[in-house]
Amino acid sequence: MHSRTVAPISLSRFLIEEQREKHHINADLRLLIEVVARACKAISIAVGKGALGGVLGSAGTENVQGEVQKKLDVLSNEILLEANEWGGHLAALASEEMDAPHPIPHRYPKGEYLLVFDPLDGSSNIDVNVSVGTIFSVLRCPAGVREPDAGAFLQPGSQQVAAGYAVYGPSTMLVLTLGDGVQAFTLDRELGSFVLTARDLRIPEDTREFAINLSNLRHWQAPMRRYIEELLAGKSGPRGVDFNLRWVASMVADVHRILCRGGIFIYPLDAKIKDRGGKLRLLYEANPMAFIVEQAGGMATDGLGRILDLVPQSLHQRVPVFLGSKNEIARVTQYHREAAAA
Ligand code: AHG
Ligand code: MN
Ligand code: MN
Repeated sequence: MHSRTVAPISLSRFLIEEQREKHHINADLRLLIEVVARACKAISIAVGKGALGGVLGSAGTENVQGEVQKKLDVLSNEILLEANEWGGHLAALASEEMDAPHPIPHRYPKGEYLLVFDPLDGSSNIDVNVSVGTIFSVLRCPAGVREPDAGAFLQPGSQQVAAGYAVYGPSTMLVLTLGDGVQAFTLDRELGSFVLTARDLRIPEDTREFAINLSNLRHWQAPMRRYIEELLAGKSGPRGVDFNLRWVASMVADVHRILCRGGIFIYPLDAKIKDRGGKLRLLYEANPMAFIVEQAGGMATDGLGRILDLVPQSLHQRVPVFLGSKNEIARVTQYHREAAAA
């Protein structure tokens, strides 16, 4: 008998099935994810042109956090805004690159969701042709709020209805959670569509690989030093095994590696950044990544407690981030708890 080959599952088909069969999402959330994915394709094309697209280098401006914006930071932000503001699925958008939330222009209908994103993560890698990405988080607009301001976004990460990232590497991938596991899609550049290439990603509970910017060691607090020094001591140290170090300096790329083969990613508090509360931002870096990592069986803390339980105080709030393979994150978190209790 002639058997039909199994057709690849596109992101569109995956989302339709989530809506129709599993009732995980409604039509608006499906549209929202599709639109974000389309914007990521546009960003992927701009990133991929490199020097030929005239998109490298600084934009000559600073964002609200006092960081110099790259041309691609600004362009990616614009691509995401333009793609999302007219569809009727959003009540407002917020981003790393904008001081305050972007309202939906009055000429368009408003929807029930809030979208918050890091349009281009790993900006320092743009000009050296190393992987960068986009991170996004979807929240519900609080009931009765017609003109959402920053306050509407200050919801704990546990309330996210979806989160994901695109990584612009040797291939472009979209990794997505709707709160029911984590799926990975690879961009078919000829077809222009994301194709499901890995289902239900799981992060191994144990690992021998860690990601941290080791150059900050002298600024760390005692429990952080203790943990890393034990790893660095390798076979002859208290852990009895050798550990390997990887640091891309694009959170998206480091987290993606952890989803593929395990590992941990840490950006702790240190003396240099203590006043700012950390380096990474809670709403559009820590929360979406924590949601994805937990959905893949990993763990995500701020060194003391679960990231997803934190109640944000401001739109651009920063937070220490510890995420990845469960047993290592539990251990380093325990070291911090012991030190805090002493
Ligand atoms: P962004 O480019 O969005 O500002 O984020 C950069 C972040 C993160 O992607 C990365 O893990 C970290 O900054 C790198 O920090 P260091 O340069 O201190 O290593
Ligand atoms: Mn970032
Ligand atoms: Mn960024």
